[in-house]
Amino acid sequence: MEKWGGVVPELAARSHVKAIPPLLQVSFEEAKITPDDITEIAVTTHPGLVGSLLTGINLAKTFALMKELPIIPVNHLFAHLEAIHLTEKVSYPYLGLLVSGGHTAFMLVKSSVDMEILGSTLDDAAGEAFDKGGKLLGVGYPAGKIIDDLAKNGDRKKFDFPVSYMRDRPGKMSFSGLKTSLRVRVEKMSADDIKNELSNLCASYQEVIVETLKIKCEEVITKILNEDIRKFEMPIVIGGGVACNSRLREVMKARFKNVFVVKPIYCTDNAAMIAHYAALVPEEKVNFPECLSLDVKSRFVEKK
Ligand code: KG4
Ligand code: ZN
Repeated sequence: MEKWGGVVPELAARSHVKAIPPLLQVSFEEAKITPDDITEIAVTTHPGLVGSLLTGINLAKTFALMKELPIIPVNHLFAHLEAIHLTEKVSYPYLGLLVSGGHTAFMLVKSSVDMEILGSTLDDAAGEAFDKGGKLLGVGYPAGKIIDDLAKNGDRKKFDFPVSYMRDRPGKMSFSGLKTSLRVRVEKMSADDIKNELSNLCASYQEVIVETLKIKCEEVITKILNEDIRKFEMPIVIGGGVACNSRLREVMKARFKNVFVVKPIYCTDNAAMIAHYAALVPEEKVNFPECLSLDVKSRFVEKK
């Protein structure tokens, strides 16, 4: 991924095929269990890159076929948000902010299986904005954590990158203009200038992403849920890879009450959140052999 500066879907799917056997072996060793100990299988079925999802579901089906086991299909985005229950007690309904490499959305979460999308990005996801910005700055991939670290020593006001307010579209976000403004900025700078200003560029760029998420969260509360921010008591749960971002955690906790952020080890994609979500929704289980007909979907489908 480092070499290509992003995820190339076909290569990602192939690298998953290669990575799975050794990963499985290490996982069984570390968990001190054997395949015979497994009673059901949790697997992400949507949304995501179809090639990678197919790799996962085919492995799940192979296991199911060998041992005649049921499969629990998991919605990746629900799993990101519900990972909060791994470490915190949060009641429903809550306002979820899902910020990952592929998705950015506000959701009203009424239960583990009942979520309503209140707002989302019209173009790039927040994580994508970090990664594409990182590519322009030449800092490596995935860039979120690198920009977060570099920004700690930077001046957030040094560069004036634009926030896409879209005031007439509450809850709707856009990050592609920000990426363009960074590109225009760095095109005017020499390699030395970029190097010298790197932490300031990172801090200013990151600040716009964080500010956009904060402003859009305010809008969701005041214009979509029609509540007063000072009186808004509903928990706010932030999950997905970008929820690791230290500045986002700081700003959201300072601005809103009852903010719960998924623990960093459960923010970026991980198997624990998938297994944990499956345990929350036993009714979603598909028994053998029907589970062999399960399919994957690239898009998010709302469930009511
Ligand atoms: O949730 P995730 O692991 O994968 C998807 O489901 O997309 O999110 C990955 C994204 C990447 O774009 C990565 O740059 C971003 O999360 N990320 C961060 C940080 N750590 C990971 N973004 C900002 N700050 C971080 N500390
Ligand atoms: Zn994810």
